[in-house]
Amino acid sequence: MSHTSHPVPLTSRAGAALKGRVAVPGDKSISHRALMLGSLAIGRSHVTGLLESEDVLNTAKAMRAYGARIARTEDGGWTVDGAGLGSLLEPEEAIDYGNAGTGVRLALGLAGTHPIATTFTGDASLSRRPMGRVLEPLRLMGAEVVARAGDRLPLTIRGAATPAPITYRVPVPSAQVKSAVLLAGLNTPGVTTVIEPIATRDHTERMLSGFGAELSVEVDDAGARIIRLTGQRELSAQTVQVPGDPSSAAFPIVAALIVPGSEITVADVLLNEHRTGLFLTLQEMGADLTIDNIRETGGERLGDIHVRHSALKGVTVPADRAPSMIDEYPVLAIAAAFASGRTVMQGLEELRVKESDRLAAVAAGLAANGITHEAGEDTLVVEGRSGPIGGGTVTTHLDHRIAMAFLVLGLASDRPVTVDDGSVIATSFPTFQHIIRDLGGVIDASGEQAA
Ligand code: S3P
Repeated sequence: MSHTSHPVPLTSRAGAALKGRVAVPGDKSISHRALMLGSLAIGRSHVTGLLESEDVLNTAKAMRAYGARIARTEDGGWTVDGAGLGSLLEPEEAIDYGNAGTGVRLALGLAGTHPIATTFTGDASLSRRPMGRVLEPLRLMGAEVVARAGDRLPLTIRGAATPAPITYRVPVPSAQVKSAVLLAGLNTPGVTTVIEPIATRDHTERMLSGFGAELSVEVDDAGARIIRLTGQRELSAQTVQVPGDPSSAAFPIVAALIVPGSEITVADVLLNEHRTGLFLTLQEMGADLTIDNIRETGGERLGDIHVRHSALKGVTVPADRAPSMIDEYPVLAIAAAFASGRTVMQGLEELRVKESDRLAAVAAGLAANGITHEAGEDTLVVEGRSGPIGGGTVTTHLDHRIAMAFLVLGLASDRPVTVDDGSVIATSFPTFQHIIRDLGGVIDASGEQAA
């Protein structure tokens, strides 16, 4: 069932300490990319640990519409039989991408340099999000687009028949924009160059190299990354092991830090240096958070994260750390509410265009639960609690991370916290409630609330 059909209010409340060892599902960014690159490669790719969430399943559906054969095997793995680069079929129907910003923006990149027309639609959240940031470079490469005002979904893209390679300086720190251009470059003759002044997650580059693409990365004197991709080279099928998603691990980790007496381990978490800003910030706040069993698989680093309930203190999180923890600010705001002193978060402008206006949604959720804070245009200051907190109902605006962050708040608050719709959590972390309950946390459908 789609999360858009029935809002499911959920309530969390303080209970016993959280204890145990858990593994979170596979990384969302890597899962989307594994299905897409597998769909372009020659031969059969095998993917283990794929995130089986609504967003990623929408990518599987999209790639099938383009002609790839994608199947789940009995042992829970996935196989992808590629359609081959340059031979994507024209989808017969519009592709509904649901809530998945990464999915649709990366698919636009693929579609932009294949001579076929695709119509993309999405839910109310996705239809509000800006697509111009990926359409601008794709138009330069020769794609034609008919979109709603402001380059929003629904839109139809007709890919260039003779794509032109471009050199594109990414104007906002966005891995999705970078990746869309690189994926478009795959079916473009010559060298497509992306200049990234501020580094963002580099899963696309790593995985493209793994699938045999001709790609180089250079860092210039100003620290900008210059990524060059030679197009129209065949990709060959690979085996991809997807590590646990650090953006999902963030929720049980913060929960354990703020619920007294807790001690948990989250195993097999992706530790890509462009994804670990939250863990560093929590350590700076005084968190008892350690990482061991660090190893490498498929070109990515992973490890086990141990956390114990800790006395946290407020810190200033610099703007230049934002790209490495861009999805983690909602849950950091919750950790900050339990810290002594104030936590200052800077450089948050990109939060305005996530699944919701996340800065506004976090501020409203903090206000509803009696947490003192101040939200600026691109900053958020949270004061550590000085009295009872909780008791509020939070509007999620179809944003999974707003739902999970405020459910984590309720696990350690004086009064229960309700989110108006928890069904949207299925877009990224379908086992969230199960894992929190396994650790001993209490989350109920709101109707089940004890009096
Ligand atoms: C993602 C990039 C980020 C992030 C999103 C996943 C990706 O978005 O917020 O959850 O997989 O490339 P932006 O590129 O918009 O920063």
